[in-house]
Amino acid sequence: GKGAAMVTAVAYRLADQTRQIAKTLAEFRLTTEQLLEVKKRMRIEIQNGLSKSTQEAATVKMLPTFVRRTPDGSENGDFLALDLGGTNFRVLMVKIRSGKKRSVEMHNKIYAIPLEVMQGTGEELFDHIVHCISDFLDYMGMKNARLPLGFTFSFPCRQTSLDAGILVTWTKGFKATDCEGEDVVGLLREAIKRREEFDLDVVAIVNDTVGTMMTCAYEEPTCEVGLIAGTGSNACYMEEMRNIEMVEGDEGRMCVNMEWGAFGDNGCLDDFRTEYDNTVDELSLNPGKQRYEKMCSGMYLGEIVRNILIDMTKKGFLFRGQISETLKTRGIFETKFLSQIESDRLALLQVRSILQHLGLDSTCDDSIIVKEVCGTVSRRAAQLCGAGMAAVVDKIRENRGLEHLNITVGVDGTLYKLHPHFSRIMHQTVCELAPQCTVNFLLSEDGSGKGAALITAVGCRIREELNS
Ligand code: GLC
Repeated sequence: GKGAAMVTAVAYRLADQTRQIAKTLAEFRLTTEQLLEVKKRMRIEIQNGLSKSTQEAATVKMLPTFVRRTPDGSENGDFLALDLGGTNFRVLMVKIRSGKKRSVEMHNKIYAIPLEVMQGTGEELFDHIVHCISDFLDYMGMKNARLPLGFTFSFPCRQTSLDAGILVTWTKGFKATDCEGEDVVGLLREAIKRREEFDLDVVAIVNDTVGTMMTCAYEEPTCEVGLIAGTGSNACYMEEMRNIEMVEGDEGRMCVNMEWGAFGDNGCLDDFRTEYDNTVDELSLNPGKQRYEKMCSGMYLGEIVRNILIDMTKKGFLFRGQISETLKTRGIFETKFLSQIESDRLALLQVRSILQHLGLDSTCDDSIIVKEVCGTVSRRAAQLCGAGMAAVVDKIRENRGLEHLNITVGVDGTLYKLHPHFSRIMHQTVCELAPQCTVNFLLSEDGSGKGAALITAVGCRIREELNS
């Protein structure tokens, strides 16, 4: 009768809906073969970044850092460190003691950087930074000390020495004017001068990946790789000097800041990107740039999820077909919410309450779908990141002519630390794609601050040696 026909119609619609959702999510599922292909392409781009003839046009820039060795415990002194470019801006005081009872003691304060400052003029940004330093020095009672400072500046910089770095381009949420193409250390020194209140000795500019590697290497000498899986995504590692064609000399090693977030900017990942990745890219502050980062890092995962949800809602599969104002809001799905939604311990009712908190009215079915979308997007991110890391460790293994390599990777970043599955899936992927390497991942405790101080300590010593 009529009732049966209606039931059949509803059942048919549900089956069709399930099929279409599955089809959308299938685009995000990568096979081992595909991941091996990503690894292979990363390896090609690494080579392009290292070679003189291809480096100019290379997307993965492989920037020399002038950090030539990891710490050995002899570092000593009191340092100031700045950490700009992650989730928070911080000023730190780091006391490093060498000798038998070596130790690192830290004090830090977090400061907000308002959006208008992040995206205002360069002068405003650096004045704000110096204002925060001033507040910190007051707080510590250290205005008159002229301490050596290490500046963790987590953006691509072309360095010519430890204490000079030209900003190649802003990434993530920053877009202050008049900074790109400028020496960032110079901009900081000028801002300190403008304030006429205290003096500092800027010794080193440091990428967060490098700070992370150095911090972990302080505890574990086999650590020669640094990884950030946070707001952004990037890695660094100790490369052989003979392979770094942009720097003179063939002896020993130097840490290279890969800037792997830009992997894919030449279109080499296009066959893995979905329409949602395209939309996220187009709506971002830097369209066409940092394409790998936009598939892998905390700042963008939520945006991919949001765009999938919008599409599914338009098709009538979600939220009763109603696109709310919330769903139209950029940036609602922060890493911490994705992490909560994907937590295994969470009942669906709690998923619904998180969605409710974000301003999304969901049914029980909605919450199941949302959770699945989140899981699919973050799994792909972890796998892609793992494929990149597999390329790096295999390169190091080959550099050293080894059949098998044991190595430690120092890691930091909110995605790695907060997400319930990201780290595990990433580890598994590296294991599977680089079977000739045994990779040990070491969580860095406050890499940006401590690492910058360690590098500054080495920088100070080199300077003293040169002067004596
Ligand atoms: C972005 C920056 C890079 C940084 C990474 C992680 O990719 O360009 O320098 O290391 O984010 O913060």
